[in-house]
Amino acid sequence: MQEKLKELRKIAEEKILAATSPEEVEKLRVDLLGKKGELTKILKEMGKLSAEERPIIGKLGNEVREIITNNIKEKKEMISRAILEQKIESETIDVTMPGKVPQIGKQHIISKMIDEVTEIFMGMGFSIAEGPEIETVRNNFDALNAPKDHPSRDMTDTFYITEDILLRTQTSPVQIRTMEEAVKTNDLPLKIIVPGRCFRSDSPDATHSPMFHQIEVLVVGKDITFTEFKGTMEKFVQKLYGPETKTKFRPHNFPFTEPSAEIDVSCFKCGGAGCPVCKGEGWIEILGAGMVHPNVLRNCGIDPDVYSGFAAGMGVERLAMLKYGIDDIRLMFENDVRFLDQF
Ligand code: DAH
Repeated sequence: MQEKLKELRKIAEEKILAATSPEEVEKLRVDLLGKKGELTKILKEMGKLSAEERPIIGKLGNEVREIITNNIKEKKEMISRAILEQKIESETIDVTMPGKVPQIGKQHIISKMIDEVTEIFMGMGFSIAEGPEIETVRNNFDALNAPKDHPSRDMTDTFYITEDILLRTQTSPVQIRTMEEAVKTNDLPLKIIVPGRCFRSDSPDATHSPMFHQIEVLVVGKDITFTEFKGTMEKFVQKLYGPETKTKFRPHNFPFTEPSAEIDVSCFKCGGAGCPVCKGEGWIEILGAGMVHPNVLRNCGIDPDVYSGFAAGMGVERLAMLKYGIDDIRLMFENDVRFLDQF
């Protein structure tokens, strides 16, 4: 029996050494030490032994059990350590690898242009006013002195919601709202700029979009003269395009101003010599403006014999297209980041 036990110990050691998975080791434990295992089988024969032999074999049997148990325990630990090490190895982070840079959006070119213009006027003491995109016909046309047969009132040019309500075609109705509020709250004089969205029933093409943005300028006070109007607009243009930029006031007609002008600036690309940006003219038209028509002041409850003012309106998309050399207005609304990222 002694031999059998020694033999079992030897075989057990070899088998445990050869095992490579936790499942294999567990199976060995059952086969060697379990109730129906090898060791039990051998020890069952102890009944045949003499009284002197029994304690010796018993002791040896316990020793063999202990050795095998320890071997199994060590092997199990070894295997799980190896598995862990392998896992750590395969999951190592290479800290020298370049990271993934998250894509962060940036300010849209339209907002950027609005901010630029707004900042210039705020630097001259203007404050920002806003109005609704859904307007009354009265604020958008009537109170702005637009004749009943003005072409811009046509159904083909303007999005009407009802006979009296429309999507504003310009930011000019905010002039009416602001002046009426100022009269109500006794808050004249005023100096405001109004950025906002406007709508016209135009089919989209390279220079037209049914939705676009304008910035309105309005100054109303006592003794506001044409000189002040001219000086303010010139200052604005020079801040936007550079101090050497020249300004030309070309006579025009708007219902809400008298006199009215379109303001041209010397081409900021060629300086006036003529180039593709100014179409060889040397000048670029950037906005409409004029002295506020007495009828408009009157419509808002302001006495034109006491107060006067000037106003201007400019298209934000047009300013941006000129400034950044964009040849299609639709690009600004497609919102392809590859396009927007350039500005
Ligand atoms: N509202 C005009 C337009 O959409 C632009 C404009 C012209 C605004 C002259 C003004 C102005 O305030 O005085 O074409």
